[in-house]
Amino acid sequence: MSTILISGANGNLGQVVTRHLLDTGYSLLAAGVGSADELPAHDRLKFHQVDLMDEERAVSFAEKAIRQRKDLDAAVLLVGGFAMGKLADTSKAELEKMIGLNFYTAYHLVRPLLKHFLSRPEGGQFILVGSRPGLDAASGKDFFAYSLSKAMIFKLAEFINVEGKKKNVTATVIVPSTIDTPANREAMPDADFSSWVPPERIAGVISFALTPAGKMLRENILKVYNRA
Ligand SMILES: NC(=O)c1ccc[n+]([C@@H]2O[C@H](COP(=O)([O-])OP(=O)(O)OC[C@H]3O[C@@H](n4cnc5c(N)ncnc54)[C@H](OP(=O)(O)O)[C@@H]3O)[C@@H](O)[C@H]2O)c1
Repeated sequence: MSTILISGANGNLGQVVTRHLLDTGYSLLAAGVGSADELPAHDRLKFHQVDLMDEERAVSFAEKAIRQRKDLDAAVLLVGGFAMGKLADTSKAELEKMIGLNFYTAYHLVRPLLKHFLSRPEGGQFILVGSRPGLDAASGKDFFAYSLSKAMIFKLAEFINVEGKKKNVTATVIVPSTIDTPANREAMPDADFSSWVPPERIAGVISFALTPAGKMLRENILKVYNRA
């Protein structure tokens, strides 16, 4: 099995996706800004502590991955964060923080990887994470900066898909509703957890997108909403 670069591997969703991809047989080059304590020790998992909002460090991480792993053919980019606030109440600094976390952390890796994927006949795949408010302003009106920064992810995927057309380079955007994570359960204790999306299901969707059948799909926006 090939190598996958995965960012946000130590997050709530990332930990589950990382375990799933390891079980499937992939080798993983993982990145997170904190520690890897929550991740399993595994000979096919290498964790790197890197602040992906820092362009130089992020590009250097991606370029090293490209040099070291000839079989690197996909990037699963899961880093993201959330903030409340309507448009009229959102400062430029707050907007920049959300764009940094949700867009630049992906964009910094996409640039070198896209160049690499476009240069090889096998191409390559990007799996990005959007959110429903990034597609639909009505559901994002109470979190403007978050929604706008996630909307940029859909546009980034669109540009990758235009550039990658006929070159086997594709971008898929996974769009979860509320993910059933310990953090969300703590923040919303009275919610109906059964309507949320188990992270294992998102891992399954990502895993399918990476299969030979999934590689045939184009311009994917995969809405993993369950009943939420
Ligand atoms: N949770 C939801 O209900 C939900 C719904 C829709 C979409 N999403 C999206 O799904 C993705 C995963 O969500 P989640 O709930 O798993 O989030 P999470 O638990 O907060 O995980 C975020 C991950 O991003 C990493 N990270 C943060 N800043 C970073 C930086 N500067 N450089 C490198 N890594 C950084 C974190 O690393 P550390 O752990 O080391 O800090 C962590 O691995 C996000 O893109 C989120 O927007 C989530």
